[in-house]
Amino acid sequence: MEPPSGSASRQHVPWSRLLLAVSLLTFWTPPTTAQPTIETVPPLAAEGSNVLLLAHNVSENPLGYAWHRGERVDNTQLIALYRVDNNATTNGPVYSGRETLYPNGTLLIWNVTQRDTGSYTLLVTKNDLQTEIQTGHLHVHPPVARPSLQASNTTVTEHEGPVVLTCLTDETGVSIRWFFKGQSLLLAERMTLSSDNSTLTIDPVSREDTGDYQCEASNRGSSSRSNPLRLRVTWQENSRALGVGAITGIVIGVLLVLTPLAVLGRFIFLHRYGGIPRCCCCPRLTLVLEEGHPILQFPAWISRTSPLPHGYSLSSFSSCLTWH
Ligand SMILES: *[C@@H]1O[C@H](CO)[C@@H](O)[C@H](O)[C@H]1NC(C)=O
Ligand SMILES: *[C@@H]1O[C@H](CO)[C@@H](O)[C@H](O)[C@H]1NC(C)=O
Ligand SMILES: *[C@@H]1O[C@H](CO)[C@@H](O)[C@H](O)[C@H]1NC(C)=O
Ligand SMILES: *[C@@H]1O[C@H](CO)[C@@H](O)[C@H](O)[C@H]1NC(C)=O
Ligand SMILES: *[C@@H]1O[C@H](CO)[C@@H](O)[C@H](O)[C@H]1NC(C)=O
Ligand SMILES: *[C@@H]1O[C@H](CO)[C@@H](O)[C@H](O)[C@H]1NC(C)=O
Repeated sequence: MEPPSGSASRQHVPWSRLLLAVSLLTFWTPPTTAQPTIETVPPLAAEGSNVLLLAHNVSENPLGYAWHRGERVDNTQLIALYRVDNNATTNGPVYSGRETLYPNGTLLIWNVTQRDTGSYTLLVTKNDLQTEIQTGHLHVHPPVARPSLQASNTTVTEHEGPVVLTCLTDETGVSIRWFFKGQSLLLAERMTLSSDNSTLTIDPVSREDTGDYQCEASNRGSSSRSNPLRLRVTWQENSRALGVGAITGIVIGVLLVLTPLAVLGRFIFLHRYGGIPRCCCCPRLTLVLEEGHPILQFPAWISRTSPLPHGYSLSSFSSCLTWH
């Protein structure tokens, strides 16, 4: 038999002889030339993703490729081999049904599982029947375990002390993100995160902080969110007792309503009987309804539903209205 030379002659190499050559050459160290390199994309894969074992720098016009599990060429660990001359792929004993061998020597493994973690060895049979061998590695991440969320107290009173939420996870090297009502948490000034993001401190707590919190642990491959934890913030106005401030506000409010009403009564009297120009004075009324939340109001008789004093319309008070 004549040794094949050049790409044109490779079609004439019988396939059986090629296979024999491949198995014989398994134990033969080829002369070192420009070695192919294997690049795993992505290098750290998540379970269920598809991974490419890219074969770079393989020799030109090879006769075929063979991929094996493990760090060496072992025919019992053959995944598949590819014959360039007729584009034929032959599956080996450890072919899982999730591998595709491309004509350029690249191996695609789809829907990877943890059991795919390990080494993969490529054997390239060149057109001079010499071989190139290179090993690549695949690491499949386990899915991130679901973190759990704890609060120092799930029912707290507004402005009273801090609330500390702690994200608990057994995973190392995960990053943690926070969610509030299903949305990525926007950090208010009252909120601080620990340097590793695992604890969220809210101090002082506000009624706006009421709602469901979640934390999410993720590594480069996958992520997992905790069950929601509901924080309830109660506040003083909800309780039966009115604060001293609120009572004071109501008293002041009543006085502020009554005083201008007296002034207005006098004004109306003078307007009717003394011809005083319209709207010489406008009542500025402050009725405090809620502690710390003053609300400006006109007396009821200026509203549309109350009868206006004789000779007046709402427009008579337009200049007053613009004051407030
Ligand atoms: C391919 O081989 C050449 C020369 O040996 C080298 O310069 C290049 O970096 C290699 N490329 C890859 C992707 O390994
Ligand atoms: C080989 O072919 C596959 C499929 O076409 C492609 O995704 C991959 O990038 C190729 N490999 C190289 C090293 O170019
Ligand atoms: C092998 O595939 C290439 C394209 O990938 C095609 O050009 C060629 O004709 C195919 N050869 C055979 C024998 O099917
Ligand atoms: C991926 O593999 C898992 C088992 O490992 C299987 O349950 C799932 O259906 C597979 N998905 C696809 C798209 O093949
Ligand atoms: C939780 O907060 C409420 C209201 O501030 C308080 O009454 C209760 O004692 C707190 N519980 C714990 C365990 O700190
Ligand atoms: C903490 O979370 C912020 C965004 O919420 C993120 O930018 C940062 O990288 C995280 N830090 C760590 C150590 O996970």
